Amino acid sequence: MSEDGRVVSGRPKQSERDNIALRPQRLADIVGQDRVRENLSIIIDAAAAREEAIDHVLFYGPPGLGKTSLAYVIANEVGANIRVTAGPAIERPGDLAAILTHLKQGDILFIDEVHRLGKAVEEILYPAMEDFVLDIVIGKGPAAKTLRLNLPRFTVIGATTRLALLASPLRDRFGARFRLDFYEPPAIESIVLRAARLLNVEIQGDAAVEIARRARGTPRVGLRLLRRVRDYAEARADGVITLAVTQEALELMEIDHLGLDDVDRRILTTIIEKFGGGPVGLDTIGAAISEDRATIMDVYEPYLIQLGFIDRTPRGRTCTEHAYRHLGIDYPVDPDDGQQRLL
Ligand SMILES: Nc1ncnc2c1ncn2[C@@H]1O[C@H](COP(=O)(O)OP(=O)(O)O)[C@@H](O)[C@H]1O
Ligand SMILES: [Mg+2]
Repeated sequence: MSEDGRVVSGRPKQSERDNIALRPQRLADIVGQDRVRENLSIIIDAAAAREEAIDHVLFYGPPGLGKTSLAYVIANEVGANIRVTAGPAIERPGDLAAILTHLKQGDILFIDEVHRLGKAVEEILYPAMEDFVLDIVIGKGPAAKTLRLNLPRFTVIGATTRLALLASPLRDRFGARFRLDFYEPPAIESIVLRAARLLNVEIQGDAAVEIARRARGTPRVGLRLLRRVRDYAEARADGVITLAVTQEALELMEIDHLGLDDVDRRILTTIIEKFGGGPVGLDTIGAAISEDRATIMDVYEPYLIQLGFIDRTPRGRTCTEHAYRHLGIDYPVDPDDGQQRLL
């Protein structure tokens, strides 16, 4: 199955990218992430009091946890224009220079996948973020001249799923950095209930609890499950999302009670059955299940680690006893002392 076809993937699907109706508008609409919300409100208030652009902000964490939403919320709260781009979209330094020269005082430049900016582009971004200047080289060879342009004070909001891939000088230029964590089920539940209201779907309380439980702590997954269950309720029942309808629909999607799907289970069974529980390298796991390493790292693995099913060790990934138990596979016992083998 391709990543885009996967129901419990945190990554946005093409069809969801325009679905902005469900996006929170204000800080008060943001559910959970209390620490992030609190800190952002301080940053926003302080900047308003000083009548200055806010400091550059970096959000990092697995897909679907609200990085893009928070960027829009900040822009709304400070009443700033937001210009949206992404690391891979800025190919040459000139592309970035063109964006920068069009910014106005207080504007926000949102750079998604900021870890994917090229080196030459980053070199332009450093002085722009730090000193609000843009150095332009005119001409070539010995006759080349550098022209320094002053830029208005603007704010970069960066988002990345892979903090480790961000060059440290770039990381250091973000005055505020926030890690987004998986949400607790009650937070997902209220996100699902709010969305059901906005979508005009009738959902029963225990059904929302069930969806939240299987959403792998990820708002985007919770919202997607809600849509899929709604479809099922409309096609196979009277449109009302009850617990029974929810369970049937999720069963059909092969999503288990922890929110794991077929791909997650394949990752775990591969480690256990083909590699004796690990340690085994990501590339090897990827080859066995036909997924690339980056996708496993970004999309599948974070939640399996969060559940305590996979451990990351210097020699590769290992499966924990919890994973064996979840899959109903016997955990290996050391024949010498009858003790369970330490992984
Ligand atoms: N804290 C939150 N409160 C309410 N809704 C949220 C929250 N975080 C995310 N969402 C919803 O989940 C969806 C995915 O969030 P998004 O900001 O696109 O995630 P990311 O950019 O981290 O991949 C959004 O459309 C939004 O409706
Ligand atoms: Mg995003």
